[in-house]
Amino acid sequence: MLNTTQKKKGKWKKQSQVSGIGFGLDYKKLVFLGQLLMVLCQQVTSEKEWDGVVITQADYQGLQAFKNELIDPKGVLRSWNDSGFGACSGGWAGIKCAQGQVIVIQLPWKGLGGRITDKIIQFQALRKLSLHDNLISGSIPYSLGLLPNLRGVQLFNNRLSGPIPASLGQCPLLQTLDLSHNFLTGTIPPSIANSTKLYWVNLSYNSLQGPIPGELTRSSRLTVLSLQYNNLSGILPNDLGKLSNIKTLDLSHNFIKGSLPSSISSLSTLNTLNLESNKFVGNLPESIGNLHNLSMLSLRRNRLEGRIPLSIGNLSTLKQLDLSFNDFSGEIPTSLSNLLSLSFLNVSYNNLSGSVPNKLSQKFNSSSFIGNLQLCGFSPSSPCPSQAPSPSFGIQEEAKKSRKMSIKDIILITAGILLVVMLILCCILLFCLIRKRAVSRKEKEGTAATGRAIQAEKGGPSGGPEVETGETGGKLVHFDGPMVFTADDLLCATAEIMGKSTYGTVYKATLEDGSQVAVKRLREKITKGQKEFEAEVNVIGKIRHPNLLALRAYYLGPKGEKLLVFDYIPNGSLANFLHVRESDIRVEWPTRMRMIQGMARGLFHLHNNENIIHGNLTSSNVLIDDNISAKISDYGLSRLMTASAAANVIATAGALGYRAPELSKLKKANTKTDVYSLGVIILELLTGKSPGEAMNGVDLPQWVASIVKEEWTNEVFDLELMKDASTIGDELLNTLKLGLHCVDPSPASRPEVQQVLQQLEEIRPVDTATTSGDDGGGDPSASE
Ligand SMILES: *[C@@H]1O[C@H](CO)[C@@H](O)[C@H](O)[C@H]1NC(C)=O
Ligand SMILES: *[C@@H]1O[C@H](CO)[C@@H](O)[C@H](O)[C@H]1NC(C)=O
Ligand SMILES: *[C@@H]1O[C@H](CO)[C@@H](O)[C@H](O)[C@H]1NC(C)=O
Ligand SMILES: *[C@@H]1O[C@H](CO)[C@@H](O)[C@H](O)[C@H]1NC(C)=O
Ligand SMILES: *[C@@H]1O[C@H](CO)[C@@H](O)[C@H](O)[C@H]1NC(C)=O
Repeated sequence: MLNTTQKKKGKWKKQSQVSGIGFGLDYKKLVFLGQLLMVLCQQVTSEKEWDGVVITQADYQGLQAFKNELIDPKGVLRSWNDSGFGACSGGWAGIKCAQGQVIVIQLPWKGLGGRITDKIIQFQALRKLSLHDNLISGSIPYSLGLLPNLRGVQLFNNRLSGPIPASLGQCPLLQTLDLSHNFLTGTIPPSIANSTKLYWVNLSYNSLQGPIPGELTRSSRLTVLSLQYNNLSGILPNDLGKLSNIKTLDLSHNFIKGSLPSSISSLSTLNTLNLESNKFVGNLPESIGNLHNLSMLSLRRNRLEGRIPLSIGNLSTLKQLDLSFNDFSGEIPTSLSNLLSLSFLNVSYNNLSGSVPNKLSQKFNSSSFIGNLQLCGFSPSSPCPSQAPSPSFGIQEEAKKSRKMSIKDIILITAGILLVVMLILCCILLFCLIRKRAVSRKEKEGTAATGRAIQAEKGGPSGGPEVETGETGGKLVHFDGPMVFTADDLLCATAEIMGKSTYGTVYKATLEDGSQVAVKRLREKITKGQKEFEAEVNVIGKIRHPNLLALRAYYLGPKGEKLLVFDYIPNGSLANFLHVRESDIRVEWPTRMRMIQGMARGLFHLHNNENIIHGNLTSSNVLIDDNISAKISDYGLSRLMTASAAANVIATAGALGYRAPELSKLKKANTKTDVYSLGVIILELLTGKSPGEAMNGVDLPQWVASIVKEEWTNEVFDLELMKDASTIGDELLNTLKLGLHCVDPSPASRPEVQQVLQQLEEIRPVDTATTSGDDGGGDPSASE
């Protein structure tokens, strides 16, 4: 390949030398040769083509001015030294003349700085100005456009600034215009389309703004229009159909919006269509299949939606197809398998579903398909459901489970539903309705007053739990001494359901004084008997740590109701914080890291100081307090449950994707299964993905591991985080490694939470301002 082009070039050179010698004085031949040279974009081939006419006075002065305004550190223009005799005879570097007039100025790669003089107007015969790959700054002189014979302008790779002179449209013979890779600003003057011979326009890599003028896209001679990497905006002109000779249309990396005009499908000469990184919306027209000369199509990073047209399968010469980072949905049409020339395919990060056509998955590896959550069959880790039934967490699974439920469960569920209905209908004084309301309002106020009196007398936290036995036979035990509410306050609070779990239902209760607490009503049937229950709950009630939600009180009702009272945390759970938020609210890395460290600290306290296993750590039961740090809830609750209920909780955690694999056999949680759950939450914070979402049939740890294995590590991170990748890249990577270490399938390989904490603090040293002063009330370790 290389050899043949070299041979061709050699042949051309020979011919031109022959004509230069043989027809040395033939002006017409020279003109022809000049044009030929221009079209082929070749260097001046021979210095001995002089027609014997000495340079005119005007052109000589022009060249002097031209040299004076340039900076020539390499001394390239030193040969422009005599009184002009050598200028046309080949003595002056880069100059060619005809009839004593300069027709070509060609000085690429010469390290020239300075500016282009506006005395360039002197060169009335100039056909070609080629100064590309220098360091020339300043603006393009307006007078350049006034040269009647100008055919080619090659000023790319310089430091030119200012606008593109509208005068360029006045060159009746202009054919090629390459101003790319400069610092040009302003809009593209519509008038340049007045140069009706213009067929090659490259204005890429500048800072041009405004719309693409319709005049330009109606220019039937254009074969190349390269406007990529500018700040162009507006919409694409509707009538692109007039570009009947266009081969390359590159508008990538601009801000062009609107839909793709259907006329784009009539550009049958088109070879390259690159619209990457714009703001195009709407569908890709089915008629795109008419572009039967297309070899490259990139629509990457737009907002196109709808299905991938079947007709793309008709683009038989297509070599590269990039549709990544759009919102295409539906299946990948099997017709794409017809594209035998296709050597590059990327449909990643869309909303595609179904299975990848076999031929495509054989030809392209998973990096062409990633980021489509419902797409399967493109890698061993993404089998389609028919190939390998994978654990799905959907409705089917629920249905299966419900069939296995005992009558007891069904009664419980029914009771639960009734409760919800009651609550929603009546907006209710919850517990007053559950119980017979034996206490009159007057008496109640009396009790409340007593409670406040006790609080006032004690004037501070007391050592042991405060026990209050109500007149109705229930028992309320406070762990933090001062009683801010009484049993009756609590029981008559307005309540609103916050959530349900295996343990029971959580309500947000608003007390009469307007304060709020979270009340967990445990399912009576699955809690331990009263004595055992009280023994355990008294242990849990003493635990105080800034990253653990404090149990403030519990209530035992006369009929066996069991209520746990916690601080109410208005921000809700980590799961909501991360996955349910406005699209413009970002959760920055320092915040995420603070949560990870907070969780690790809370868990460390549980494991090491309290000897408690959480057993059900998920992002839904990690709460976010006012300081945006993490507070683990639901710890120790399994201790309040009968053994069988605790096992059931383990099963539920599995369904959410947080359960360590060995728990399916073991059935008993330990520190390593907690570390696994912590690891899943770390991955959740890094990827922004919920472990509950099915990822082509693999769970979050497997998904992350598979991508890391394929060395697409950067692809796992939440896109929001990648915005700052340059500064936090190392932290992300090290945290990812740690997260993967925590979810190691082998429990023995996982670190203990203490090591996790140490490593986290090495990765990002603790920000003291945000970890102290946030203690949930009386950290016992502080007073010890
Ligand atoms: C002009 O430049 C040429 C080429 O660099 C050199 O050979 C010649 O001696 C110079 N003439 C004068 C008068 O400086
Ligand atoms: C072009 O757009 C970029 C990115 O939005 C911006 O930083 C730059 O200032 C813009 N340039 C001009 C000349 O408007
Ligand atoms: C993704 O595609 C599914 C159908 O396949 C559709 O229901 C869903 O709304 C789409 N999601 C987005 C974000 O476009
Ligand atoms: C496709 O694009 C995605 C996103 O940029 C990238 O991760 C992946 O490597 C690309 N695949 C190929 C085959 O280029
Ligand atoms: C996938 O294909 C791309 C492009 O062909 C290649 O660069 C990359 O290394 C491949 N990745 C794997 C994991 O094979």
